[in-house]
Amino acid sequence: MKPASILLAANTIAGAMCKVLVGYAPSWKDISDVDLAKYTHVNLAYGTPQANGTIVFESSYSLADCVPRIHQAGAKALLSVGGWTGERYMSDILMSPYDRNELVKSTVSLVTSNNLDGVEIAWAYPGKANNKCDKFDIANDASNLLEFLKQLRAELTRSSSGQPKLITMSVGVIPFQGPGGPLKDVSAFAPLIDLLSVIAYDINGPWLPTTGPNSPLKNEAGRGAPYSFSSAIDSWTAAEFPAEKLVAGIGLFGRSSTASQDMTRDSTNQYQPQLSKIPRGDKDDGLWEDKCSGKPASFSGIWSYKSLREQGVLKAPDAASNGWNRYWDDRAQVPWLFSTTTNVFISYDDMKSVAAKVSLAVAKGLGGIMVWDITMDYQDELIGEIRKGVGLKPLARMGPVLSQAIAIPQLHVDTFVWPAGPTQSAAPATNTPPQGGGNGGNSNNSSGSNGSRPTIGGQCGPNVNYRCMSDNHKSQEFATCAGGTWVLQQCGTGTACVQNGASVYCDYYK
Ligand SMILES: *[C@@H]1O[C@H](CO)[C@@H](O)[C@H](O)[C@H]1NC(C)=O
Ligand SMILES: *[C@@H]1O[C@H](CO)[C@@H](O)[C@H](O)[C@H]1NC(C)=O
Ligand SMILES: *[C@@H]1O[C@H](CO)[C@@H](O)[C@H](O)[C@H]1NC(C)=O
Ligand SMILES: *[C@@H]1O[C@H](CO)[C@@H](O)[C@H](O)[C@H]1NC(C)=O
Repeated sequence: MKPASILLAANTIAGAMCKVLVGYAPSWKDISDVDLAKYTHVNLAYGTPQANGTIVFESSYSLADCVPRIHQAGAKALLSVGGWTGERYMSDILMSPYDRNELVKSTVSLVTSNNLDGVEIAWAYPGKANNKCDKFDIANDASNLLEFLKQLRAELTRSSSGQPKLITMSVGVIPFQGPGGPLKDVSAFAPLIDLLSVIAYDINGPWLPTTGPNSPLKNEAGRGAPYSFSSAIDSWTAAEFPAEKLVAGIGLFGRSSTASQDMTRDSTNQYQPQLSKIPRGDKDDGLWEDKCSGKPASFSGIWSYKSLREQGVLKAPDAASNGWNRYWDDRAQVPWLFSTTTNVFISYDDMKSVAAKVSLAVAKGLGGIMVWDITMDYQDELIGEIRKGVGLKPLARMGPVLSQAIAIPQLHVDTFVWPAGPTQSAAPATNTPPQGGGNGGNSNNSSGSNGSRPTIGGQCGPNVNYRCMSDNHKSQEFATCAGGTWVLQQCGTGTACVQNGASVYCDYYK
């Protein structure tokens, strides 16, 4: 990328539009203690479309209690339909006029009968699969989605007798996948969608060969997944989606993984080799089996920010407790933590990183910020920063004062240039443990896809190295050099390995 570097002071383009704060209320969590007045929109996640298009909403809270509570708090209530596992049938449903009708009918009926303000279609990966159970149709998914949105808009308008209802979506870091790669023009979707939330976290995680930031403000060339909070915004506006309807997603959580070595020996590098074993995250983390992944049950490794503060990892918003080392990455503009006793790495967002993200979103003229999820903050430390940044009324009870004032860096707003190469299948959404594709590598000794194929179990090294097991775009398999031996690994389902110098990433099949 060749950034044109137009220097903008934060807040100079502070749009009057940037006043949206969307919060997710996961249906499996207890939200009874959450003050919903902090949000302008609450997404009740998730309604699950069945194969025939009927939506099932099962939750720990009832819509009858929850929707009036949201309205009393002055926020809008939306049902979020789909999600990581819930988008399984979307491609098939939208392909069949009969099932598509049923999905429209079921959505409209849930919205009107529960007095909801609208719906969020949480289908982040049209044209792609995010796990083995997902079907997808690269040629037709995006156009079927457009037809579905037109039909849904017409039905919602017809049935809501003058009360306008919202249609929103949540999407990945690159636009919908079409036969020629990500769509370069999504402007036809804009009139049908009120807000488009970009999932700008889950970018690096334990599913990759190296540790790395869950949500870097900027990514680093040749290290980790080639996406960031900033590139996610730019890829949608470059595809002609209006900035003022875009909402940038911030995760109020961290992801942990196990590094293969003591990362403190190179503490300026948060991209270091990691094992595929995911450690337990916070007290709420449990073993979870994604039946679609074909892999044994594992932890997600997720730490809510609240648990980081409460469970003795962070003793202050900007200071680690004993046993943990905290580092700040200047390029990614996020902190990371490392324990030398367990080799556990945690990438997360804090007050400073959240403030930098909100500044960038405001500078780019976005509609607002989305957060996953409304139960994960600690004493409004992060939500307080976000409300301040987007220009919403400060909360009565704000977070504590930092040991050092937050210095918001001057932000370079770069014009977006489409990457020359193909793009990776987007990162997984956070409602469940992901199993995305590999990406990364931090050796600068490159071997092209023409390099010799590694022998699994055979000797490798001394450099950390990643090799596709087959030609680019042909196979899921790649090998990682770990402890002097080649170890076999796989890209996420629906994606194939592409060699990128000494590292690999996972892209669509070609
Ligand atoms: C759709 O399938 C579900 C079971 O998955 C069933 O309960 C429901 O009645 C079906 N809806 C229609 C309209 O056929
Ligand atoms: C890359 O090569 C340079 C010079 O050969 C070396 O100093 C540096 O440590 C290498 N970086 C990595 C990540 O291997
Ligand atoms: C890079 O790789 C080549 C071929 O695998 C090897 O001969 C060479 O020593 C490596 N260079 C470094 C600096 O590790
Ligand atoms: C290897 O390189 C040759 C010549 O540069 C090229 O024709 C061939 O397609 C390459 N093979 C692979 C697997 O990349």
